[in-house]
Amino acid sequence: MVLADRSVLVTGATGGLGRAIARALADRGARLILTGRRTDVLEPLARELGAHAIACELTDRAQVELLWSEALGAGVDVLVANAGVPATGMLTELTEEQVDRMLEVNLRAPIALARALAPSMVERGRGHMVFVSSLAGKVASPASSIYSATKFGLRGFALGLRQDLRPHGVGVSLVLPGFIRDAGMFADARVELPWGIGTRSPEEVAAAVLTAIERNRAEVEVAPAWMRAGASFAGVAPTVAAAVSRRLGGDKIAADHVSGQRDKR
Ligand SMILES: NC(=O)c1ccc[n+]([C@@H]2O[C@H](COP(=O)([O-])OP(=O)(O)OC[C@H]3O[C@@H](n4cnc5c(N)ncnc54)[C@H](OP(=O)(O)O)[C@@H]3O)[C@@H](O)[C@H]2O)c1
Repeated sequence: MVLADRSVLVTGATGGLGRAIARALADRGARLILTGRRTDVLEPLARELGAHAIACELTDRAQVELLWSEALGAGVDVLVANAGVPATGMLTELTEEQVDRMLEVNLRAPIALARALAPSMVERGRGHMVFVSSLAGKVASPASSIYSATKFGLRGFALGLRQDLRPHGVGVSLVLPGFIRDAGMFADARVELPWGIGTRSPEEVAAAVLTAIERNRAEVEVAPAWMRAGASFAGVAPTVAAAVSRRLGGDKIAADHVSGQRDKR
């Protein structure tokens, strides 16, 4: 799909990766509908990019419905479902309410938006949906069982939906970032990685979103080659991969994520 003059809805536009994604889409000439909760970030960003801003709390189903009705009214061609919460912590230390919120934002809201927007895309024989998952959607880490549940879930959903919408001219893609530096939930947590574990930038995630849409790619990973290979290996041998990760200090990295991301539950 050529993005110039296409209408694109971006969720999580106020976040570290969402801002980079919105700017990259604007550079391609897309007409943007940006959403997030923090209006003090959302509105200036929308003004800067000439975009339409819709504040939305994605755990509130009525607000999600208002969001997709407005998007339908604007004839949305592309959905970038990027909003997410870190969802880290031991299951036993999370309240039921926190778990529900994590599931709503990371999994239920993207599915609800896709369900609402798909029929009009199918009718036009054109459209694209990008779901921002994570390498945690391919490899499970300690103290993030709910995050993995949502990101594995999103991956299964998107890969299945891709098959269903393919005959109708509608593309579906996944973007799977690893550790992203400078901005976003990993950078905000200020976790120190052992030497040699590479990071990628928000701009590289944004470029991956463009590639996914313009080349209709099923999955685009944004991480060093060794990490991508490790994630694929974890798909076939998850317990061996978990043992290797423990040896490389995975438990400490996980614990640091939990303490650095507690405020985003
Ligand atoms: N950063 C990384 O290293 C990394 C790695 C792998 C995958 N990812 C994925 O990339 C996506 C973007 O993450 P990020 O790093 O940009 O995180 P972030 O900076 O924390 O931004 C999260 C975004 O989601 C929105 N959001 C959170 N809860 C919401 C809710 N209840 N209702 C509406 N919007 C809500 C936030 O809106 P407000 O700020 O306005 O509240 C914000 O725009 C997520 O899906 C994440 O899982 C990130």
